[in-house]
Amino acid sequence: MKYTFKVYRFNPETDDAPRYQTYEVDCEEGWTVLDALNYIKWYLDGSVSYRRSCRHEICGSCAVMMNGKNGLLCNTQVKDLGSKTITIEPLKGFPVLKDLIVDMDLFIERLKAVNPFFESSEPPTDREYYQSPEDRAIIDDAVNCILCGSCTGSCPSFWYNPDYLGPAALFKAFRFVYDSRDTAAAERLELVDDHNGLWRCHTIFNCMECCPKNLNITEGIQYLKRLAFMRKI
Ligand code: F3S
Ligand code: FES
Repeated sequence: MKYTFKVYRFNPETDDAPRYQTYEVDCEEGWTVLDALNYIKWYLDGSVSYRRSCRHEICGSCAVMMNGKNGLLCNTQVKDLGSKTITIEPLKGFPVLKDLIVDMDLFIERLKAVNPFFESSEPPTDREYYQSPEDRAIIDDAVNCILCGSCTGSCPSFWYNPDYLGPAALFKAFRFVYDSRDTAAAERLELVDDHNGLWRCHTIFNCMECCPKNLNITEGIQYLKRLAFMRKI
């Protein structure tokens, strides 16, 4: 079936402004948007730039905006976009390095700001730190995050204020604050209890609607808000 792909093109080193380039592709049944972009790159125009690696929604590198909604190139079927014309653009809110590739430094900085690692004051033993299935279930969603950046790149609060930690970093904070084995919850909560942290989230829900892993990001942020509020009273 024939589809038209409108691909965002921009090289800040040589172009004055972004433009869209159109390619006609005869897509086979079951093709993902990544398959179509690969076809464009391999057979029609080798200069199109985009990130990809695993092809199995694991590495998180292929997040872009497709027909106005963020998602992964590799787990979005062409036919599921419901249109014969598919516009592919880079994630909003991040500087474009070239075409669909954005600079994720800011994303990583915001992530680092919440101390995204397990901390325990318990002395290490020769066994794992025990966690009950019930306690693990609380953070199940958050553990499955692949850090693709779809959520942060879809959040209007982040577009207009890049100082905002953004949903991915907040969801990572939730993952450790609610981890029954982590003993640094209070310090971590302190890091996000700020006007550029939790309270910059206006419950817009874009983050959750576009998450390619269907993670309940907004709920995680609300749990953190509740804890921060309870702590104050
Ligand atoms: Fe943004 Fe998601 Fe909150 S879209 S405002 S982080 S609910
Ligand atoms: Fe790895 Fe899409 S290529 S998530």
